[in-house]
Amino acid sequence: MKLMAIVLAAGQGKRMKSKLYKVLHPVAGKPMVGHVVDTLKQIDVTRTMVIVGFGAEAVQSYLGDQVEYALQEKQCGTGHAVLQAKDLLGDEDGMTVVICGDTPLISDVTLKNTIELHQRSGASATILTAKLDEPQGYGRVIRGEDGRVARIVEQKDCNSEEAAVQEINTGTYIFDNRKLFKALGSVTNNNAQNEYYLTDVVGIMTSAGETVQGYCMADAAESIGVNDRVALAEAERLFKVRINREHMLNGVTIVDPANTYIERDVVIGADTVLLPGTILRGKTIIGEQCTIGPQTEIIDSVVKDDVTIKQSVLQEAYVDNEASVGPFAYLRPGADIGKQVKIGDFVEIKNAKLGDGSKVSHLSYVGDAIVGTNVNIGCGAITVNYDGFNKNLTEIGNDAFVGSNVNLIAPVKIGNGAYVVAGSTITHAVNDGDLAIARERQTNKPGYADKIKGRMKAKKENKATKE
Ligand code: UD1
Ligand code: CA
Repeated sequence: MKLMAIVLAAGQGKRMKSKLYKVLHPVAGKPMVGHVVDTLKQIDVTRTMVIVGFGAEAVQSYLGDQVEYALQEKQCGTGHAVLQAKDLLGDEDGMTVVICGDTPLISDVTLKNTIELHQRSGASATILTAKLDEPQGYGRVIRGEDGRVARIVEQKDCNSEEAAVQEINTGTYIFDNRKLFKALGSVTNNNAQNEYYLTDVVGIMTSAGETVQGYCMADAAESIGVNDRVALAEAERLFKVRINREHMLNGVTIVDPANTYIERDVVIGADTVLLPGTILRGKTIIGEQCTIGPQTEIIDSVVKDDVTIKQSVLQEAYVDNEASVGPFAYLRPGADIGKQVKIGDFVEIKNAKLGDGSKVSHLSYVGDAIVGTNVNIGCGAITVNYDGFNKNLTEIGNDAFVGSNVNLIAPVKIGNGAYVVAGSTITHAVNDGDLAIARERQTNKPGYADKIKGRMKAKKENKATKE
């Protein structure tokens, strides 16, 4: 049967007290509404309609054309929000998942289970519910004697008996599409908030003799609806527990899961060890048998197998097999680190390729450069890539040796096997196999140290007697 979805994302989210629209607040590095749309993709929904209102442009520019949109100009409640999809979806036969943009943890498995019950029982609607010790703030699910759902009562409309019910509405539902839009026509705003509640559809359907089922999720942690920053932090924590657990079950060692932050789209190979304080973000891919951390942040980067990265920051970098990075290295966009390369302490690499086996061991900046294989870049050596107007390229050939504290004034080319003497400031190309030295020749003056000290001392005493 055709499966469609409506995502409610038009609310302002007043309780967030934020300039950012609620559904765009990130959890595990991704806006909440992005998680919901990703999960709908996992259950093969054919059409997804996102109801936008507050921040419509921002939500649309984030989600792009992977979904369709309906505009809710005035936020008159969740029922009114769903009604905005009527023109686009109202005439379709099939099932419709309605889900809130602020419930990022609901999983594909739970949605599949809800749909399964819905189909098996032939219900007109199935509510995804959860049992909570503290149900405050959520709509309560009131079941009849037959165990089916009779109605949903919002927190603000609950009497004391209803408020004591611990089964809550997660805001996710499976509906027979045509029956949904038919029932929505009868919803009124006669309630504590003067809003058109989607939840009233349940009572309308049961009164009309339709069957409404409730599927209670196995893990109540999925149910969290993020209305304020306290819930946002809790959603973040719950996501972390889920993501870390998945990686551990896939063979990744996480030494301190409470202090390891991995965003949803990150991929990690088996036998990789994550030490405390590791943060893996965006589209990062980590290979097998790596050791990452402690205190390391990796964003949108690719790290191959058997790599060690300590106390470092990587962004849009590529690190090949058996390389070692850090402690305290900074790999910026375009850093392309070859196999068995060593990037040591206080080294910054930007838009530079380092060939296999090369070493930049301490205190260097390599930017806008192409470095060959087995090159040694000495302590403190830097590429001088920026002249105040343009970024210029430095090329260093295979097996070259760049001594300590060398300045390579770009654009400049160092040949294969060339040797640049420590302390040189290089402004001209060095050919293959040549040695370059570019520094003032040293002069020593025998015994001059004592002489100059004596002269200084006398000057000081002279000044003191005058005063
Ligand atoms: C809603 C449910 C409640 C449920 C809870 C689960 C209703 C009336 N209540 O309450 O039973 O326990 O979710 O988290 O449905 N929205 C619109 N347009 C509107 C109003 C809201 O698009 O006019 C969107 C919001 O952006 C949000 C979602 O609908 O993503 C839910 O709205 P919210 O105000 O957060 O409802 P709750 O009070 O949490
Ligand atoms: Ca909510």
